Amino acid sequence: MQIAASMPAEDSKRRVLKDVFGFDDFRLGQAAVMEALLAGHHVLAVMPTGAGKSLCYQVPALVLGGLTIVVSPLVALMQDQVAALRLAGVAADTINSSLDRDANVAAWRRVAAGQTRLLYLAPERLMTPRMLEALTKLDVRLIAIDEAHCISQWGPAFRREYEELSRLRGIFPDVPIIALTATADETTRTDIAAQLFDGRVDTVVLGFDRPNIKLSIEPKQDSKRQLLNFVQRHAGRSGIVYCLSRKKTEEMAAFLERNGVRALAYHAGMSKDAREANQNAFMTLSGVVMLATIAFGMGIDKPDVAYVFHTDLPGSLEAYYQEIGRAGRDGRAAEAHMLFGLGDIRMRRLFIDDEGAPAEHKRRAHGRLDTLIGYCETAQCRRQILLGYFGESASPCGNCDNCLDQAPHADGDAEARIILAAITQTGERFGAAHVVDVLLGHETEKVLARNHHRLASFGTGVAHKKSLLLSLLRQLVAGGFLTLDSAGHGGLAVAEKGRELARGEASFRYRVDARQSSRGKIRPVDTAAGTEGLDSALLAALKAVRLRLARERQVPAFVIFSDRTLIDMAERCPRDLDAFAAVNGVGAAKLKDFGEIFLGAIAAHQSGLSG
Ligand SMILES: Nc1ncnc2c1ncn2[C@@H]1O[C@H](COP(=O)(O)OP(=O)(O)OP(=O)(O)O)[C@@H](O)[C@H]1O
Ligand SMILES: [Mg+2]
Ligand SMILES: [Zn+2]
Repeated sequence: MQIAASMPAEDSKRRVLKDVFGFDDFRLGQAAVMEALLAGHHVLAVMPTGAGKSLCYQVPALVLGGLTIVVSPLVALMQDQVAALRLAGVAADTINSSLDRDANVAAWRRVAAGQTRLLYLAPERLMTPRMLEALTKLDVRLIAIDEAHCISQWGPAFRREYEELSRLRGIFPDVPIIALTATADETTRTDIAAQLFDGRVDTVVLGFDRPNIKLSIEPKQDSKRQLLNFVQRHAGRSGIVYCLSRKKTEEMAAFLERNGVRALAYHAGMSKDAREANQNAFMTLSGVVMLATIAFGMGIDKPDVAYVFHTDLPGSLEAYYQEIGRAGRDGRAAEAHMLFGLGDIRMRRLFIDDEGAPAEHKRRAHGRLDTLIGYCETAQCRRQILLGYFGESASPCGNCDNCLDQAPHADGDAEARIILAAITQTGERFGAAHVVDVLLGHETEKVLARNHHRLASFGTGVAHKKSLLLSLLRQLVAGGFLTLDSAGHGGLAVAEKGRELARGEASFRYRVDARQSSRGKIRPVDTAAGTEGLDSALLAALKAVRLRLARERQVPAFVIFSDRTLIDMAERCPRDLDAFAAVNGVGAAKLKDFGEIFLGAIAAHQSGLSG
């Protein structure tokens, strides 16, 4: 990569964007971040998932020359990035624990010889005295810290190895540092700025909205069925399904497989080889469903993920946002769907309490959970709540279940009072299932053993469906009328607000859950802009070529070309290399390496059509 030193920064970064990465325009925020870095400032870039944070340091790295150090928390992520950069003709290297010694030594030789532009390292490896000493002797011109929220103790993804990174600004006093993250509420943001930069940093915060992701939540009833229905509606598309436990990922994957869905599991308890094989299959093929714990996904950049499905409540709204951000990165319509039940709240509270963290930390974690529950139970536009949490205001989005279904609301004072009475009469220590049994007049063993069939409340709820009573209980908890005893067994107790309601001093309106997994209004999933009238046979042929190349090179398919690039290719039908170079996403190196191959496929397809 040669860039004339005298060229103004504006031109040189544009030229790198086009020549190396094949893109015509910067995305929102990218140019501003790059300019600040090129002017020698530290930058904290808070940009949504999939916004294109990587280019924010990759382009300046090439404009600046010398060596750029990139800190990244996961080995798999580093490997993908390095593979993608190399295909674009960029001298990138990584030194990490998954490579054998010889490979690491060879990589270091290239770095020391000044051949490497970007070096990817895990924080713990970078911060060893030996590595730091060696690096300070080299021509380091930029440092990038990806997934920077990992440094914040208050954040949900704290990693101890990240704390050490606060020493970097002292060790490399003249080198601009960029910290990048997709999830940072105000507290975390300030924390990152303080720790990494001592407050002296240009902060660029971009809108958080991912408007193409439809947001929806449904009460958890029979999660396997609900998942299967959902997955079948998106047959042939790739999706990620998050489960709370390792065991569940495997059970659910087996269940989907039995029902004819291509499904794989991913969790930290699997062997490294099995994990990598599944990750590679997911990244390379299309139409695979990945059942995963949160061990899977940070930095996953597979553009055609059509949905993220949560079978269980995530840890916080930040975590939720980060997780659903893996859907729809190609800009096409995508869905984020969650199942939500009272048991989830209990489980999450137990997690927090069992964590052994300081009291202040627990208090914050419970607070974050309350916010998430509020999001689940809201009758308002979900996107408004989500964006509001990140400090953005928005109008109703028209692409969440609450906007689309306009769930009707009803006056629930009477229903609430019979529920509150049943809870009070049973001693405020039983969980939802037992309270509902009492309300419905079920003479279960537990009811009889406790003499609860003698209570005045016994059978007072028979006019209602069990699902309605459970929904009311959830909404009463979410509304602060009831509390859920987290330390014990999920016992429900009446909160002060609930006593006011029982005395008629407060009122309660509830959302009528008419939404049914199988009947809900379903928007067409594929409303990809500009794909109408596209030659789908040609596109399929191009995808086949991509898959073959990806397999040969053992990289994920999107690293060769994104879907969007293939669509652009199929539309333009280039006949020669000049025309091929104009395709969005085709840079100089890929033009050289792949141009003829794809041109051949296009020509073969067209002669097949005419003949
Ligand atoms: N200017 C651009 N024009 C076209 N495509 C771009 C541009 N910038 C980035 N992209 C593409 O956008 C996709 C997402 O980029 P990237 O992986 O950097 O996202 P990210 O912001 O790091 O997200 P995450 O927070 O999930 O890691 C990539 O496939 C990348 O090639
Ligand atoms: Mg990223
Ligand atoms: Zn909405």
